[in-house]
Amino acid sequence: MSITLDSPLDMHLHLRDGEMLSTVAPLSAKTFSGAIIMPNLVPPISTKEELLSYKARILEATKGHTFKPYMTLFFKPTYTKEFLESLQDELIAIKLYPAGITTNSEGGVAGFDVEELRPTLTAMSELNIPLCVHGETNGFVMDREAEFVSIYEMLATNFPKLKIIMEHITTKESVEALDRFENLYATITLHHLLITLDDVAGGMLQPHLFCKPIAKRPEDREALRKVAFEGHPKVMFGSDSAPHPQHAKESCGCAAGVFTAPIAIQVLTELFVKFSTIEKLQAFLSDNAQKIYSNITIPKKQISLEEKTFLVPNKYSNVVPLYAGETINYSILEIEGD
Ligand code: DOR
Ligand code: ZN
Repeated sequence: MSITLDSPLDMHLHLRDGEMLSTVAPLSAKTFSGAIIMPNLVPPISTKEELLSYKARILEATKGHTFKPYMTLFFKPTYTKEFLESLQDELIAIKLYPAGITTNSEGGVAGFDVEELRPTLTAMSELNIPLCVHGETNGFVMDREAEFVSIYEMLATNFPKLKIIMEHITTKESVEALDRFENLYATITLHHLLITLDDVAGGMLQPHLFCKPIAKRPEDREALRKVAFEGHPKVMFGSDSAPHPQHAKESCGCAAGVFTAPIAIQVLTELFVKFSTIEKLQAFLSDNAQKIYSNITIPKKQISLEEKTFLVPNKYSNVVPLYAGETINYSILEIEGD
C-alpha cells in the first residue's frame, strides 16, 4: 500500500551558500514544495539586496524543481516599519537568534530588553510578519530551552498580535507553553522526534547527531511525539536540516547540525506508520503550516511512498546525512508535479 502526501513543507531549513547550496538545495527541492530558509549566512541576511540575491541563488540551485524558497531576515532591533514594508512581498518571517547561541549567530540579540525590541516587533505585528525564534538562554546546556520559556512569555504577552514560532522545540516545557498563549506556535525537527541525549553521548560520541538545541530526555521526546503525532494545529514540521562539511563535524570542535533533508519525508513516514498515526502526517508536514502562515502560496506537488528498503548514501558530496550507510524502510515511489 502506498502513502501519498500533498505539498510537503519544511518550515525551517538551512541551505548555506556557494558549493554547499548547490549540493543540498536540490535534495530538499526534489521532495518538498517549499521551505523557510534560515538567514544565518556569513554575514547574516539583513538587507533587501542580500535577501533578494540569496533568493536568486537558491532559485538557480533548485532550477528544474517545483520548489518555493520562503525567505527570512536575521532579526535586528533596528529594522524600521518602512524597511519591512518595502520587503513585505519577499519576506515570510524574521528569525531571531540570541547572540552567539549557535552557528553564525554572533550578531543576534544580547539581553532581551523589551523596550529595545519594541519598535521592530510592533512593526512586525502591524505588518503581520511572524517572528521565528531560536529559544535558548546561555545557561546550562540541558536547561537553556526551558529557561527561555519566560522570554517567550514576555514576547507573547507584550506583542499579542505577533505570531511567534518557537523553532525546533525539544522540551516538555516548550510543548506546555504552546497551549498557554494563543500567539505561540512551534516547529519540531525529525531528529528531535527520533533521538535523546543518550543517542548523542550515551555511548561513543556521535558528532552527526550533535545539534543545537541538544537532544534532551526521553520524557521530552515523548512530549514532542505526542503533539506531532496528534497533528496538533500549532505544530509544524521544520527539519532544521543543517549541513556542515564532514571535516567540520568529525573534528575537535564539532559543528552543530544534523543533515536530514534527503531522507526526512521517508523517515517521518516510517515513524508515523510505526506509531499508528500516519493519517496525521499530512497535517504535521503541510496543512498546519499553511494555516499558521496564512498568506503563503504553495506549489502543488504530490509525493507517494512505499514500504521498501532504501540504503542511505554514506555522503552527499562532502556532507554526511542522518542514517548514513544504514537502511530505512520507506522509499519514494513517485513524485507528481516536480
Ligand atoms: O544544530 C544547529 N545547526 N542548530 C542551529 O540552531 C543552527 C544550525 C546551523 O546553522 O548549523
Ligand atoms: Zn536552524
